[in-house]
Formats: sequence, C-alpha cells, structure tokens
Amino acid sequence: MTGHCEACAIAPLTTSLFCTWSIAVRGPRGRRWWIVIGTRAPLLIGSDTRDTACFAQHAFRSGKPRACTSHSASSRRRPRQESPSRSTYEFEQRPAIQSPWHDLPMNDAERTAREYDAMAGDYAADNAKSAYNAYYERPATIALLGDVQGLKVLDAGCGSGEVSTWLVDHGATVTAFDVSPAMVELAQRRLGDRATVLLADIAEPLSFASSGEFDLVVASLVMHYVYDWTATLQELHRVLHRQGRVVFSTHHPTMDWQAHSLEDYFAITKVTETWSKGTGSFVVTFWRRPLTAMCHAIARAGFVIEQLVEPEPLKSLADRDPTAYANIRTKPRFLFFALRPSPWSD
Ligand SMILES: C[S@@+](CC[C@H](N)C(=O)[O-])C[C@H]1O[C@@H](n2cnc3c(N)ncnc32)[C@H](O)[C@@H]1O
Repeated sequence: MTGHCEACAIAPLTTSLFCTWSIAVRGPRGRRWWIVIGTRAPLLIGSDTRDTACFAQHAFRSGKPRACTSHSASSRRRPRQESPSRSTYEFEQRPAIQSPWHDLPMNDAERTAREYDAMAGDYAADNAKSAYNAYYERPATIALLGDVQGLKVLDAGCGSGEVSTWLVDHGATVTAFDVSPAMVELAQRRLGDRATVLLADIAEPLSFASSGEFDLVVASLVMHYVYDWTATLQELHRVLHRQGRVVFSTHHPTMDWQAHSLEDYFAITKVTETWSKGTGSFVVTFWRRPLTAMCHAIARAGFVIEQLVEPEPLKSLADRDPTAYANIRTKPRFLFFALRPSPWSD
C-alpha cells in the first residue's frame, strides 16, 4: 500500500492493517459501519459519509492494480461548493432510470467507478472505433493538444488509454489515471511500461503529482462525472506548469438538456442514461451544467479560455456511417476547451 487516505491521515500506524483488514457491517437504519481489525481490539472507524466512502473504496480495491494515492487529509480543508450562487444549481432531477447502486450512500467517484467497471471491456472496444469517439471526440481533442513531443502530460480519466497511447506514440511522457480499476487495468495492459497508470479520482487532491509538474493536462470526456468543477480545476491548475495548458472535452450543455427534456437549463442536474455497448446495456450517471457554470468554474480556478470549440466530425465518417455523420454534424454533442493559467492569478 503506497498511498494514504483520510483514514491513514488519522491513524497512520494502522494504514496497511486498515487497508487490508477493514470490514463493513450494517447497523441500525441500514447505515454501514467500517471496522478495522488487526489492531489490538477491533476499531470502529465511522459510518457512511463521504470520507468513509473513500475508506471503502480504498479498502475494497487494495488488491487492484495500483493503490489509491489521491485521498489526502487536505481534501477535508478544501472548500467544496460549486461557484455560482444561483439556488437553482442545487436542483437535482430524479433520474428516470436509476443506477443499480442508486440507493447506496456513495460519492460520485465510487458510483462512476462501479458503472465503468461494469462495462469496461465493452466500453473500450466501442470507444476505439465508434463514430462519437474515433471520428469526433478524439480527433478534436488531438487537434487541440498540438505538438506533444517532449512534454510531460497528465491524462486524467484515461479510460482504456486511447489518448495516452496517442500521446506516447507522439513523444510525450505520460502519467494517466482513472477512477475505475477495470479501466486502469485495461490501460496498464495496453501501455505496459510506456506510461505510468494510476488509480485515482480527479475530484480529489492528486497527491501523486507535485506542483507545476505537467506541461499539459488532458481530460477527455471526464468532467461531466464531477459535480464540483472549481475544486477539480484548481487541483489541475496546481499540478500544471505556469506555461502549461489544460485540454478537456465534456458533454455539450444543450445535448443532455434536450435529450432529457430538462425543465431548467440553468440547473446543475444529475442525469442517468442507459448505454448499449457491445452485447450489454449499462447505466451511466453524470452531471449536466449550463455553459455559464462551466465558464464560472474555469475562471474561479484561475484559468483563461484559450479556445472553445464545437467541432465537426471527420469527413470520413460520412462514408462509414452517414446517419451518425449527419447527426453529429448538425447537432452539438461535445464541447472542447483549451485553458491556460490566467496571467492575473497567483
Ligand atoms: C467517457 S470515458 C473517456 C475515457 C478516455 N478519456 C477516452 O476519451 O477514451 C470517461 C472515463 O472517465 C473516468 N472517470 C469518471 N469519473 C472520474 C473521476 N472522478 N476520476 C477519474 N476518472 C474518472 C471513467 O472511469 C472513464 O474511464
């Protein structure tokens, strides 16, 4: 166990014991309680909260490819509100189709990890060749990345490693991470020792990265899984070199607004969809937010927008899948940002 989490920060001597020997039991009113065994007497750590959800994730995944290294005690002290003050942003739509884990107390990262774990192989196969990813999202992201030769790049939410593979093929030194152990495993298998691949949560402090370490951060189709963009972007700002750039793509705010007939465009809304990938159907949950909330978080985190792009799909998609081509070319699907640290921020 190389990492540390809230538990470890509280009781450093029990780190490895906790991570190996914690168990959960159901208490009154269905709350889970975490018990550390291996100390002189069983130690009751706490019930279900955001912090103990981190314990659970940490403990249950300790046998997975890499230890979680991103949960430090400093996350406790960080302000965690979304920046815009409109009360409508607190609105949360009841999803029409609910995740199989919807009634369990877990944070976004834990739910997303389970959702991506469930479809990892099918998602990766689809992502490699689909109209949306291979002919639209990835070419647009790569166009924004520019020349990456010799750059130190962080691929946040790397999935099965499509973008990381492109980056190392073009001369970058890559650290990649994802919150889903199954996706991490796929990326590790694919990249071998050509990149460092970690299990970590973009919404938590990236304790594996030092300040100013990266020339470029890429976060391809990840940000909509995160509620609090300001804190997340602040952390990306920290690990970015002063002259560095962040390139990220996300769902276009109008796409999910229309697709789910959401009443309030200006609300930040939790959306649940069922995706068909390979032979299965998989539930996926994410956040939809208005453009103004995106821009507000970007500015609050100390960035300026260098480019905002609503790209077209590759022309070659027209022959391969004319329906998808017409659909993506005429309707906004994803939105792409290139950010630079603001010259006016510290
Ligand atoms: C739509 S996939 C995109 C994968 C990859 N970036 C690509 O473009 O091929 C989203 C990925 O983000 C990861 N993810 C979602 N929330 C995350 C979080 N909080 N921290 C790290 N990764 C996350 C998911 O596990 C999934 O692999």
